[in-house]
Amino acid sequence: MAVPKHIFDPPFSVVRCSHAVLRVRDLGAARAFYADTIGLKVEHADDGALYLRGMEERNHHSLVLKKGMEPVAERLGFKVASEEDLDRAHAFFKERQLPAAFVEVPFQGRTLHAADSQGNPLELTFKMDQAERILQQYGHYRGCHPQRIDHFNYFARDVQATIEFYAALGFRLTEYAESDEAEPKIAAAWMHRKGSVHDIAFTNGGGPRLHHIGYWVPTALHIINLCDLMASTGYLANMERGPGRHGISNAFFLYVRDPDGHRTEFYTSDYLTVDPDFEPIRWSLRDPRRQTLWGTPAPRSWFEEGALYPGTPVLPPVHDLKPIVAD
Ligand SMILES: [Fe+2]
Repeated sequence: MAVPKHIFDPPFSVVRCSHAVLRVRDLGAARAFYADTIGLKVEHADDGALYLRGMEERNHHSLVLKKGMEPVAERLGFKVASEEDLDRAHAFFKERQLPAAFVEVPFQGRTLHAADSQGNPLELTFKMDQAERILQQYGHYRGCHPQRIDHFNYFARDVQATIEFYAALGFRLTEYAESDEAEPKIAAAWMHRKGSVHDIAFTNGGGPRLHHIGYWVPTALHIINLCDLMASTGYLANMERGPGRHGISNAFFLYVRDPDGHRTEFYTSDYLTVDPDFEPIRWSLRDPRRQTLWGTPAPRSWFEEGALYPGTPVLPPVHDLKPIVAD
């Protein structure tokens, strides 16, 4: 693939991925899962929604669960660097004839709803209500001690085009997987703004769909403890993949499915990517260490299942690529 040249002065400045908005059918079941088992802190709850955050997060929420008829993904949220960046973002999306409109959102300042070139619905904001600092209030800690939202992973029907769209916004490619043909086809890519391996990743597949959101946890032992907890509290079938160590990103991981099927990854110990001369790392699609360094392939569900966006049709991928799948 053509590795994009990094743009140091993008048209508007995204700081990091900041929050996801998902719809769930049963808020009580969602609360039992995300708060009582995973350990996210409930910052606000009402009849229509739950607002959750990790232990180190000072912003009001990093996950919004809205009660809905269908378990769809509503928005992927990003924090921008200033109010002026919101206006620059509005102009950027309008110029490209992509959706862009300012909306009112609870607990957030001025908020821009937009969509990327693939149709993923985005939500950009600069200000969010600030919450009490609980990082060192260990009495609040539950589950796997989730610290902060780390990334989103989407199914993209055209991974190369998606890379190019986000590269133009200053997202930087860190790792990618491609086929070994004379003219390689890109299968997946990881890009960041905040200086870790990624804020966003794209996996080749029918899209647009949300594949998963990722939360950072303090250590691998917190993930192993979550496995023990889920296996003994009725959530055995919700553990989809792992625990293990990724080849890509080097992170220790576990993927779980919530009661509505939304997928979350618990993730720790990737690496720093802030050097201006950072060179992206290439992986062969056929290298078994890519998905899991120890060689265990991901299940078929991991490649095929993802959350739809409301009113957004899913189209097949441009390239039919064949990753290694466990059967
Ligand atoms: Fe991930």
